[in-house]
Amino acid sequence: MEPNDELREKVEYYKRMGHQVPKWKYVKTPEQIEGIRASGVINTGVLDYVSERIREGVTTQEIDDWVAEYTEAHDAICAPYHYEGFPKHVCVSINDVVCHGIPSTKRVLKEGDIVNVDVTTIYKGYYADASRMFVIGKTTPENERLIRVCKQCLDLGLEAVKPWGFLGDVGYVIEQHASRNGFKVVRDFGGHGVGIEFHEDPFVYHYGKKNTGCLIVPGMTFTIEPMLNFKKSGVRVSALDGWTVYTKDGLPSAQWEYTVAVFEDHCEILSK
Ligand code: MF3
Ligand code: CO
Ligand code: CO
Repeated sequence: MEPNDELREKVEYYKRMGHQVPKWKYVKTPEQIEGIRASGVINTGVLDYVSERIREGVTTQEIDDWVAEYTEAHDAICAPYHYEGFPKHVCVSINDVVCHGIPSTKRVLKEGDIVNVDVTTIYKGYYADASRMFVIGKTTPENERLIRVCKQCLDLGLEAVKPWGFLGDVGYVIEQHASRNGFKVVRDFGGHGVGIEFHEDPFVYHYGKKNTGCLIVPGMTFTIEPMLNFKKSGVRVSALDGWTVYTKDGLPSAQWEYTVAVFEDHCEILSK
């Protein structure tokens, strides 16, 4: 982007004051934001398609097939496929899997499972990334609460996104709400800039201090995607597949994700 001089000067001012600021190449033009918005429409469509079909008895491979099917029918691409060697089209993370679960013909969804489906779409070169939680049949009240509080954390994080605010404000409210409710925020993963690449700067922490971290500039597009655990925030990556991330304590984990865009006077969800 060739940002207008006023915007550039304002950002330069914050930088001189010692604040972190986004790289210019990741401050999107209105045209780029429209491209990401169009990708977001398909991304949300994929999640709706999954939500209409997901139920007890389906395999996670079937979810992968639905995601590939819908995406291709809309002339889009599944970003996870072969991304750094990831073997499938979508991440499906069940119970104690925190994120990056790999779909399989062997894993059948059963009553009580809590499932995160994380979809990333590329349309005309633009990326959108969102995930939702699904409950298979009936689960425990504790799991229901974990999922609900995690969603509230995401919505509170979104509310804290203000042009010329800071990403630390977002992390702060997320961690506050999680800990007030007795949950732990996973620290090893976070949100990220998204739009012209899958994972762009800045890293979006789900914990933090007010008025710290990266300046929030109109034109930024990024994800917020808190992961909440019951007792311990610690995670481990499977040695077998190098992808699947589990809670260390074996207890369930929840996650929700939006792609958001920042404008001069407000922010918008581009996919949810
Ligand atoms: N969609 C995930 C995110 O929210 C990233 C998945 S990377 C993959 O950032 F390779 F596992 F797909
Ligand atoms: Co993401
Ligand atoms: Co994602």
